[in-house]
Amino acid sequence: MSLRDLRVNGRRLKSTIEELAKIGGTPGGGMHRLSLTDADKKARDLFVQWLCEIQLEIIVDEMGNIFGKKRGEKEDWPMVLSGSHLDTQPFGGRFDGILGVTGALEALRLLRENRISTRRTVAIVNWTDEEGTRFTPAMLGSGVWAGRFDRDWAYSRPDVQGKKFVEELERIGYKGQAPARKWPVHAYFEYHIEQGPVLEKVGKRIGVPMGILGISWHDIWVEGQANQAGPTPMEGRNDALVAAAEMVLRVNELPGNMGGDMVATVGEIHNFPNSRNIIPDRVRFTVDIRCWDEGLKKRAAEALKEEFMRISQRRGCPVRVEGIWDIPHTVFDRRLVQRVEKTARQLGYSDHSMVSGAGHDAAYVGQVAPTAMIFVPSIGGRSHVEVENTTWEDCEAGANVLLHCLLQSANEE
Ligand code: GLV
Ligand code: MN
Ligand code: MN
Repeated sequence: MSLRDLRVNGRRLKSTIEELAKIGGTPGGGMHRLSLTDADKKARDLFVQWLCEIQLEIIVDEMGNIFGKKRGEKEDWPMVLSGSHLDTQPFGGRFDGILGVTGALEALRLLRENRISTRRTVAIVNWTDEEGTRFTPAMLGSGVWAGRFDRDWAYSRPDVQGKKFVEELERIGYKGQAPARKWPVHAYFEYHIEQGPVLEKVGKRIGVPMGILGISWHDIWVEGQANQAGPTPMEGRNDALVAAAEMVLRVNELPGNMGGDMVATVGEIHNFPNSRNIIPDRVRFTVDIRCWDEGLKKRAAEALKEEFMRISQRRGCPVRVEGIWDIPHTVFDRRLVQRVEKTARQLGYSDHSMVSGAGHDAAYVGQVAPTAMIFVPSIGGRSHVEVENTTWEDCEAGANVLLHCLLQSANEE
């Protein structure tokens, strides 16, 4: 069989995804496998077992990023890398991140069982804490690897209970020895579900992202004065939650006021002391702003801050706005993007050029190595939810595109 005729084993890919879905699976058919939890450890253990089964050389770095290398003939040539993440959102889906890891695993299994050697080393990766739900910001593993975050700063990031990233990394046994530092990568391909409605709408099978929207995250602290819900008159209250509620509405209106392709979301809110008969005196909530235009993103954050100050003054509730993360938009490598597009066409799949609204490890890897992504449709455009779904045929199609992109990049000079 010639290399061109090689195709992934769709049934094996499906059963691999289904095996992983049992670890941290929810009754609603989704996943709850937050970074560095016991469930994450279990998924990592299974992943490492699978890497061992195909005799990959395993490297765990000091951020817990797990790599599996299949050595190429030219050991000193920069390698070809592919993967994504095994951590999930709370009550998230079975495919986000997981498809990219299992797709790359399927490609490597195929190379091993067909005794196919490549000129360059081909490696798979599971990046730590892509979602940024438990330990903010997102993409801590790839961000440190790419030199964009300081390792010790990442180690000190706390979860809501105050547990530190490094303590949890040690606890689950994945604080490796290898430095979390980029090495020469010839090409990085990340295969992922689209997580939006575009491919379904245009009726195309393979999404070819040109890049990823820029993202900025902010934490907002609002202070009020707690008091008894009954005897305290409505007049003169300093209700932190009411002030926060008004701010949340301004966030929702922001994209409409700023224009462009902006989206803005408040997804997390903590109300204190959170008792039905106490006027709240403290609220923390998050703001997620995304758009392609960096200037617009900056102006949006400034406009929002001014709006928050006005609300704060009117309601007598001091506010503090903390910018906790900003990642500029990513432009993928043109040559690799063309490779994805051409490969999809050669395999007989329809394709569509687009931009990713979701963040990915490819954003950080893309800052230090030629990078591209491959998307497949999300049913109903739903993602980060339990019903997140993609047809098995589409999963297989995208994995074939990944396989052939990897082979081409691994065999070129
Ligand atoms: C990553 O999952 C994101 O928030 O886009
Ligand atoms: Mn993802
Ligand atoms: Mn995600």
